[in-house]
Amino acid sequence: MTDIEARIDTSRPHTARIWNYWTGGKDNYPVDREAGDRIRELHPGIGAYARADRLFLGRAVRHLAEEAGIRQFLDIGTGLPSADNTHEVAQRVAPDARVVYVDNDPLVLAHARALLVGTPAGRTDYLDADLRDVDTILEAAARTLDLDRPVGLMLLGVVIFVEDDAESYAVVRRLLDALAPGSHLVLSHTVVHPSMPDVDAAVAFWNENGTPRLTQRTPEAVTRYFDGLELLDPGVVPCSQWRPDAPADPVAMYGGVGRKP
Ligand SMILES: C[S@@+](CC[C@H](N)C(=O)[O-])C[C@H]1O[C@@H](n2cnc3c(N)ncnc32)[C@H](O)[C@@H]1O
Repeated sequence: MTDIEARIDTSRPHTARIWNYWTGGKDNYPVDREAGDRIRELHPGIGAYARADRLFLGRAVRHLAEEAGIRQFLDIGTGLPSADNTHEVAQRVAPDARVVYVDNDPLVLAHARALLVGTPAGRTDYLDADLRDVDTILEAAARTLDLDRPVGLMLLGVVIFVEDDAESYAVVRRLLDALAPGSHLVLSHTVVHPSMPDVDAAVAFWNENGTPRLTQRTPEAVTRYFDGLELLDPGVVPCSQWRPDAPADPVAMYGGVGRKP
């Protein structure tokens, strides 16, 4: 057994794997599928969040590459390779785009090779690290990205796993502080919302059974991650409704894009 295989825990559902299950992937275990089905019973809409979040990622990266001229991306909490990963969307617009992926799940590491096949003109790299290890991430990212030029910082569905509010804001702030003006933050986050009470039951089930624990925040609290940035229209909204290609129902996963002045 390799070191990576030894780190894969198939006794408890893991977020990367359940996300993969809900988006139709095959890189998950029975324990993930069972929990995924139970959560879907508690909140039938939840699978749609994962799909809406991936589509939001695609629209945001396309905007950054096409409209904002971003050619470098730091995608933390990458998840298991899926259709339209960040480098694929970015390199369709700009073949020379560079992407550094970061995740702390061993199964994502095991599948990382799929993330490292980009265009000959571009570059991708993968880092097995924790979002909280900001210095390690920045030092490693600087081997592939020029941090003196704008970067698209992708934090989709990942700061929800930093339970302490102050620490979660500080991590995002420290990452942004290290990036050049013109950099953009793309962030999505599960929310508590009075109109969607059954999300809370699904999250409570996850926190009893899955790993890592997840923290919901209010839409206002999610907007605070963008403090000091120029928040792009339409602001922090259900990620399904961030510049949608077609009219979409709201989801309890909010997202936004902000530009560092
Ligand atoms: C809900 S998935 C989101 C995946 C992808 N960003 C997306 O939006 O489709 C969360 C991902 O964050 C990763 N993750 C959770 N906590 C993390 C941490 N502290 N540091 C790095 N990655 C983390 C998980 O392993 C998982 O792959």
